[in-house]
Amino acid sequence: MKRGGRLRVMKFLAHLLLMSLLGIKRQEQMHLSDLEMQVAQLCVENTTLLKGLTDISHKFNKAVVDNHVLRSDVEALLLSSILSNSMVS
Ligand SMILES: *[C@@H]1O[C@H](CO)[C@@H](O)[C@H](O)[C@H]1NC(C)=O
Repeated sequence: MKRGGRLRVMKFLAHLLLMSLLGIKRQEQMHLSDLEMQVAQLCVENTTLLKGLTDISHKFNKAVVDNHVLRSDVEALLLSSILSNSMVS
């Protein structure tokens, strides 16, 4: 091959290499922005789930308190019923 021909082939190969590198870089950027979108979505989900968890634990705490109050009421009623029964008999 003549000297000019070889140079032209090398320029062509360099061009192909550059195109391929640019393609890889573009793919990497697309993958990166895809990952960034997923992270943003997961953060939103995290916030939603945490809010749900907070709501549920508030409800749970309220239920525990209500349960305690109800148990005390039942105990008081039982006690007063036992007392009034013992007074009748
Ligand atoms: C989810 O949110 C909580 C509270 O904002 C934070 O502490 C935690 O690091 C978050 N988790 C992720 C994976 O971002």
